[in-house]
Amino acid sequence: MRTQVAIIGAGPAGLVLGQLLTNAGIESVIVELRSRDYVEARLRAGVLEQGTVELLRDNGIGRRLDQEGLRHDGIYLQWPGTREHLDFRDLCGRSVWIYGQTEVVKDLVAARLGTGQPLYFEVSDTAVHDIETDRPAVTFLDADGHAQRIECDLIAGCDGFHGVSRPAIPQASSRTAQRDYPYGWLGILAQAPPSTDELIYAWHPNGFAMHSMRSPSISRLYLQVGVEERLQDWDDDRIWTELSTRLGHAGWELATGPILDKGITPMRSFVSEPMRYGKLFLAGDAAHIVPPTGAKGLNLAVADAKLLADAIIASRAKRARTPIRTAGSVRAEPATLAGRGQNLLDSYAETALRRVWRCTHFSWWMTSMLHIEGSDPFARELQLAQLRYLSSSRAAAQSLAENYTGLPYGW
Ligand code: FAD
Ligand code: DHB
Repeated sequence: MRTQVAIIGAGPAGLVLGQLLTNAGIESVIVELRSRDYVEARLRAGVLEQGTVELLRDNGIGRRLDQEGLRHDGIYLQWPGTREHLDFRDLCGRSVWIYGQTEVVKDLVAARLGTGQPLYFEVSDTAVHDIETDRPAVTFLDADGHAQRIECDLIAGCDGFHGVSRPAIPQASSRTAQRDYPYGWLGILAQAPPSTDELIYAWHPNGFAMHSMRSPSISRLYLQVGVEERLQDWDDDRIWTELSTRLGHAGWELATGPILDKGITPMRSFVSEPMRYGKLFLAGDAAHIVPPTGAKGLNLAVADAKLLADAIIASRAKRARTPIRTAGSVRAEPATLAGRGQNLLDSYAETALRRVWRCTHFSWWMTSMLHIEGSDPFARELQLAQLRYLSSSRAAAQSLAENYTGLPYGW
């Protein structure tokens, strides 16, 4: 088959890219390793930056988000004896939304299927070919085991950390930077009304804990655990006791309930460069991973998809050689867009990476400030000094607020 853009992976990056391209009249084919049920049930992130929400709304995927998403105007930072509220609207005029990645993916899959553009689930043996030429291709076996080949203008590698796209870039041309943390998060989903109106990020000598939520009746909570810890050693009673201890605050009580899901996620920072090689463009977790503390992974994937879509759309305007209506309804000369389109594709990797590294720093900083590593009193006092600074300096709080709610796409 022939298409303009072959997209590998139907996670947030691939699905958002497909939607933005379709809305601009550009054809794509998406291939996904897993089943529809699997990708729609995969429990992951829960916080959407304001820019992510606006992008979903502007592209016709905001209806359920507007009905069911919970707008949060701040967070709580906690350490023993203190629970401080940071008011994002006051600090930077922006908010975040609580809406699970499962729901985002469900909305994006439904929108994709509604467009009639191809989306193949349960593919296997995905491979990219001829990425250094003008005729790149993707091959795969479809769910019935039939061999398929997609000829395209370019390939978007949106297949996450374990995908096939990043390894297709020759090692001699790539570079990775990585940090593994000696801890992970034990996360639970519980049938329990949230005991807080906004998220609580808690520093505690036993380790970090966080209280998030999915709806007025479902809570999502996390505990820092050692990398070597096993899920079977954490029965429900032990989890609730530890959460109550680490999140404990005078006059406050944690509501408990049946645990619907639990899992342990290791934590790492990872950035692979370049994000483009020939006709292969990487987006989202295929190119970078952040620890979850800053709630950036999903939002970064969406930001990459937006930057890549803008570059592809502008470069198509060049080929079409037809006058294009710009956002301000002013007719622009095709030649102007032509130059801009090629420039955007050429500079995609650099523009995306600049923002990726900013978010990588923020996620590392939030993680280092809140997690316990060893018993060094010097390190602990530095963490507490930083937390007190955030609660007493408007400038410090503003910096956290503008990073947490999301920097502009072209940052
Ligand atoms: P993915 O969502 O990984 O999507 C990639 C897709 O490609 C997948 O559907 C995969 O099945 C598919 N694929 C892989 N290989 C192939 C192939 N060979 N052929 C075809 N398709 C393929 N972020 C946060 O902000 N907060 C959190 O709390 C949080 N928790 C997380 C918990 C876990 C367990 C994990 C793994 C991640 C978590 N993240 C969190 C990160 C966040 O979920 C990711 O950053 C986000 O999913 C990235 O989106 P993506 O589309 O780039 O990649
Ligand atoms: C959630 C996950 C995060 O990584 C975070 O920082 C905040 C909330 C969540 O799953 O709700």
